[in-house]
Amino acid sequence: MEKLRFFATTVIGLEDVASREVESLIGVKTEQDVGRIAFHGNLEDVYLLNLKASTINKVFIELYGSTFQSLNDIYRLAKSLDYTWILDAQQTFAIRSERVGVHNFTSMDVSRVVGQAVIDSFANATGKRLKVNLDEPDVEIYCLVRNSDFIMGVNTTGASLHKRGYRVYSHPAALKPTIASAMLRIGDWTPANSLIDPMCGGATIPIEAALEASGIPPNHLRKDFAFLRLKICNQETFEKIRAEALAQQKLESACKICAMEKFAKHVQGGIENAKKAGVHETISFKIGDATKPQDYPEAQFDFIVVNPPYGLRANPKEGVRKLYESFLKALKTKLPEATLVIITAASKRFKEAAENTGITIIKDRKIWHGELLANIFTCKI
Ligand SMILES: C[S@@+](CC[C@H](N)C(=O)[O-])C[C@H]1O[C@@H](n2cnc3c(N)ncnc32)[C@H](O)[C@@H]1O
Repeated sequence: MEKLRFFATTVIGLEDVASREVESLIGVKTEQDVGRIAFHGNLEDVYLLNLKASTINKVFIELYGSTFQSLNDIYRLAKSLDYTWILDAQQTFAIRSERVGVHNFTSMDVSRVVGQAVIDSFANATGKRLKVNLDEPDVEIYCLVRNSDFIMGVNTTGASLHKRGYRVYSHPAALKPTIASAMLRIGDWTPANSLIDPMCGGATIPIEAALEASGIPPNHLRKDFAFLRLKICNQETFEKIRAEALAQQKLESACKICAMEKFAKHVQGGIENAKKAGVHETISFKIGDATKPQDYPEAQFDFIVVNPPYGLRANPKEGVRKLYESFLKALKTKLPEATLVIITAASKRFKEAAENTGITIIKDRKIWHGELLANIFTCKI
């Protein structure tokens, strides 16, 4: 099979991190776009990325990518494509569309005309009529209309890869594992460095670090990859790649990773999540207050990677400024040599606290954390 063109989605603001990860995992050059990266590869790369990539959401086989002028145009372009290599006549499909920009049609119109175009193209080629199933399709085709761009792709992942499958305890303010993993990369953390998350909640950051340190593929618990239903998928090759990836697991990790948190309930939840992820032996858990130097473990840590609260219900006006200041003061006392990587949507409060405590911000980037615009700051304590 000749090289396929792919695109992978990621969090807006993390495109460069996702690019670097994909390039190192499958040895290709990538192009970056908003919330998306594109590259060429083969089917084995689909299996490998879905199993091993930690900073992307979904991988798509690109069917089409260019400009368009009208909804009729979209129908015509979609109908000109061949779908017989992707779908069998007895399989169902669904179109999922997103639209960005000003148009005289909705994303539902896009799904409707592209759905018709797929049925018409397939019927012309095979004489058979495909069935649509919007709830549980065998094959999902994604369309993005952004201004005058029209992109179509087949979803090889299914549900986003940030759903790793280890979150048996759902912290109410949990961080997406894709963002947690990106924070480690942004700080240039490697398993050779020790790490503490002193406000760990359900332990997403320590778990992502421990997966990396243990050589466990971050998506090893996922059994529901959408590529398994694509007619071009070769189950045997996938099983071989999966077995090879799992065999790289280290029996013991020397990496020192600590997860600390004020509330016992979250610590317990974090332990459950780490057990499910298969890394609880790599992480030491501790109840403690991140603003109190005496609560930290005795040892020094190279990195503090943390996702603190962004607001305080008890004190919405003062907000988190005091918490951030006390936290940074504790770090100055306890871990004066460490690098801090922190995500917060209360960016102004954090910058004030950093200034007041003499902590230098060396890197700063904006990302979309769900509906919130957040900053990831890298600091020298
Ligand atoms: C945004 S949540 C972290 C969520 C976590 N990253 C996850 O994915 O589950 C912030 C956590 O900080 C904890 N926290 C707040 N103040 C703290 C303090 N002074 N010391 C330790 N933990 C604290 C909260 O209890 C909460 O669990």
